[in-house]
Amino acid sequence: MKRILSGVQASGRLHLGNLVGALQNWVRLQDSYSCYYFVADWHALTSGYENPRAINQSTIDLLVNFLAAGLDPEKCTIFVQSMVPEHAELHLILSMITPLGWLERVPTYKEKKEEITDRDLSTYGFLGYPVLQSADILLYRANLVPVGADQLPHLEITREIARRFNHFYGEVLPEPEALLTQYPKVPGVDGRKMSKSYGNAVYLSDSPQEVQQKIRTMMTDPARKLRTDPGNPELCPVYHLHKVFSASDEQDWVVKGCLSAGIGCIDCKKVLIKNVLAVLGPIWEKRRALMENPAYLREIAVEGSRKAGASAKETMGMVKEALSWF
Ligand code: TRP
Ligand code: SF4
Repeated sequence: MKRILSGVQASGRLHLGNLVGALQNWVRLQDSYSCYYFVADWHALTSGYENPRAINQSTIDLLVNFLAAGLDPEKCTIFVQSMVPEHAELHLILSMITPLGWLERVPTYKEKKEEITDRDLSTYGFLGYPVLQSADILLYRANLVPVGADQLPHLEITREIARRFNHFYGEVLPEPEALLTQYPKVPGVDGRKMSKSYGNAVYLSDSPQEVQQKIRTMMTDPARKLRTDPGNPELCPVYHLHKVFSASDEQDWVVKGCLSAGIGCIDCKKVLIKNVLAVLGPIWEKRRALMENPAYLREIAVEGSRKAGASAKETMGMVKEALSWF
């Protein structure tokens, strides 16, 4: 059975875009592959080293969301990076063979460094972010890595590092492939891509009131100034969310009503709110139950990390043998 691995950096809460783009896909994959899903808390430390408490909070929130969205610890291995110290061990070894030039060329490195100006990111750890990610993947000899297009440069460097390792020490680490999922566009409330850095996201941890408020005040097609002005749904982020969360007859109703000014934006948003709440309702319920039981959550993380650790130790055994250690 092919092995799948993916992770999320513990630097914030998950939003609807993450749910549709990543988590729901992970849930589907857990039935047909051997899946490893983890919280990358050390990765969060590369840029958030000033506030480890926030990383801890985010780690808990992510674990809760993994389970609430439908990941099943009976079907997949759910773990926390820092609870499997082999990630650090392999990272160290891979760091020895990774040329600096490869890291300096990674586009996410340059972009993030320019984007984040309130912290000093001229650190060893931040430059090494992709080496740590490579270690995450290669440690499980994963075949497929479900990620968004933004992570492709990290996958590419992982493959290059694997190739270099195998060239020096023998064929040990398989080159992983990205599993690019075509997921629908999920705009935020301002029409741009939903992202925590734009402040336009609807979070899984929002309250029903917050969700309603966010959708009610969402941007619409600016052509619809008056109730009688027709609009173009394609230009409206509300419609794009309907495409993700509403049934097809409701989508048809939106298109017709919007083009003909037969419905108002308030009517249109009411239906969207109903459908988003229907998706989030069961997630909120599970979240509540999980948060009331921190001991259970801890048990899941400990048990998952123990299972992950067993595979990690197996790979480290092979790595050490390749390096002629005893
Ligand atoms: N870089 C990923 C992100 O930004 C998180 C991550 C860390 C990851 N290690 C990984 C993703 C390994 C896939 C595989 O969220
Ligand atoms: Fe957007 Fe709906 Fe208003 Fe059309 S009716 S502009 S799709 S909110």
